[in-house]
Amino acid sequence: QEKTYILGIESSCDDTSAAVICDGVVLSNVIANQEVHAQYGGVVPELASRAHQQNIVPVVQQAIEKAGITKEDLSAISFTKGPGLMGSLLVGTSFAKSLALGLNIPLIDVNHMQAHVLAHFIKEEDAKMPPFPFICLTISGGHTQIVKMNGYFDIEILGETIDDAVGEAFDKSAKILGLPYPGGPLIDKYAQLGNPKAYSFTKPKVGDLEFSFSGLKTGILYFIQRNVKEDPNFIKDNLYDICASIQHTIIEILMDKLKNAVKQTGIQHIAIAGGVSANSEIRKRLGLAEKHWGWNTYIPKFQYTTDNAAMIAITGYLKYLEGSFSEISTKAEARLKV
Ligand code: KG4
Ligand code: ZN
Repeated sequence: QEKTYILGIESSCDDTSAAVICDGVVLSNVIANQEVHAQYGGVVPELASRAHQQNIVPVVQQAIEKAGITKEDLSAISFTKGPGLMGSLLVGTSFAKSLALGLNIPLIDVNHMQAHVLAHFIKEEDAKMPPFPFICLTISGGHTQIVKMNGYFDIEILGETIDDAVGEAFDKSAKILGLPYPGGPLIDKYAQLGNPKAYSFTKPKVGDLEFSFSGLKTGILYFIQRNVKEDPNFIKDNLYDICASIQHTIIEILMDKLKNAVKQTGIQHIAIAGGVSANSEIRKRLGLAEKHWGWNTYIPKFQYTTDNAAMIAITGYLKYLEGSFSEISTKAEARLKV
């Protein structure tokens, strides 16, 4: 039986990535991080698209080489159509279209947020795939959603953020503390050395399955300003405790929402996805929820949490099986909905 090789291309934000998947199994997953943004404290869109432009050809070539195939073996090309930064999306979209035209193979557009969730269906020996229907908490730098997955492409949004994404809450808190971008992983690292109950922050009051993080960010900012005024060394002397307390507050909010979702839907199959699902505390808390509350939890492999093309390729593969291809006229969409 002939094998299906799908190339995935991801360029929605500041990582240029390409991956090859063969019948659901990852053969390669190459990611070029853009270091230029760290010095600016956030992603600079113009610089991101220029870096994608430089990275895209070598990254795709490496992905194909590492997979041990040639481009003529590819069955289809999948790419991120949105949501994301327009200038960044355009690079991946144009490149994917050109390559599909040149090779005369199908083109498959992929929604980045769906792909974060569908990364759970990458075939691996120890993979634990969630059965439908399941709940997924998708937490990244740009989005925060609780969805009910009735099928691969049958997705109901149960709730989402009304302002900032949870990744932004991590990154902006880190910025207030003078930490470089992206600050989420650093807060995670320092939190492991601190006391999560050292300080407390007010949790937002929003609907049962809605999120809000902008008030929390302001609360943290005022808290830091107040304390630094009294003691200029406040941050330095208490960094671990501050990080642990901020992280604890954010993860408590996420766990409360998941509990609400379980209560409302009666579904106990709970997955997490997106960059923030790399966070060690949310991963630990889900493990505990499995033990204490009888939930079945699904935690993606670390390498499939933050932006990567393997998730784009697996989504492309699932669409390929359904014969769901896109027109060559398809366009990048910065605000593409799930
Ligand atoms: O999914 P992702 O790579 O990109 C978007 O689609 O936005 O998510 C990036 C976000 C950033 O805000 C980053 O700080 C956060 O994920 N992040 C973390 C951790 N690793 C990445 N936040 C908390 N703890 C982590 N370990
Ligand atoms: Zn993402």
